[in-house]
Order: sequence, then C-alpha cells, then structure tokens
Amino acid sequence: MKFLVLNGVNLNLTGRREKSVYGGETLEEINRELEAFVREHGHEVEFFQSNYEGALCDRIQAAQGVYDGIVLNAGAFTHYSYALRDAIAAITVPVVEVHISNVHARESFRERSVLTEVCRGEILGFGKHSYRLALESFWL
Ligand code: DQA
Repeated sequence: MKFLVLNGVNLNLTGRREKSVYGGETLEEINRELEAFVREHGHEVEFFQSNYEGALCDRIQAAQGVYDGIVLNAGAFTHYSYALRDAIAAITVPVVEVHISNVHARESFRERSVLTEVCRGEILGFGKHSYRLALESFWL
C-alpha cells in the first residue's frame, strides 16, 4: 500500500515551537522515523507539508487513485477549514485525522474539528506516535 502523510499550517515548526506541547523532534525527524516504520511493514509513504490551505486541497484532490490512505494533521485548519473538509469528502481515499497534542485538554476552540465527520477516524494526544498509530490503522 502507498500512503500520504499531510501536514498543514505551522507543523513545519514542530521541534522548534511550543516543545512542551509538540515535542522536541523536527517534522523531518518524525517523517524519517515514519518512513522506516512504513517500509518495515512493506508499504510506501510520501510526505507533504504546507502552510497554505489551497496547496493542501490540491494534494488531497490529486490523491484520488494514487494513495491507499492519507494521514492528515491539518494544524489549526482543523478547526475551521470547510475547504479541506470538502476536499476530503470529494475523494474516496480514506483519511485519518491526527493531532500530536490532546486537543480536548487545551483551549476550547481546539475541541471542534470540522474534518472528523468526513474522516475514517481520528488519533490524537500521543505525541509523534499519533502519526504511526494512524498509519498502522490502514493495515490492521
Ligand atoms: C495540532 C493541534 C491544533 O489545534 C494546532 O493548531 C496545531 C497542531 C496538533 O497536532 O496537536 O497546529 O493539530
């Protein structure tokens, strides 16, 4: 199987911003670990990060027929992007929503995700491991 790990706005700062919330490892380091994990299980993975909503929508649209699953951490877009929600709804590739932090234990605006309803599931609060658990869900 082939997967896409998509990271949205500000996730490029992972490892450098709010380390007590998002951990001290950079996105590149997290992605390298994920790539090894996915390969060990005989699958393929590609990565994309953007701070632009439209660029993420483009990647989601282009995923149709290319990937078997998408792991998406949309960052703050999670809480208000109807454009991302519609893009996810427009494809049949299953999407698993991911968050590094436990969004339910933080500010109240983080409690609402406009994406969850159109995702296969959601994994949050396990730090960088949230990504790995989400990927694993595709071959369990
Ligand atoms: C996040 C949680 C969001 O509320 C926040 O805006 C992020 C990261 C997480 O991974 O915990 O940028 O998606």
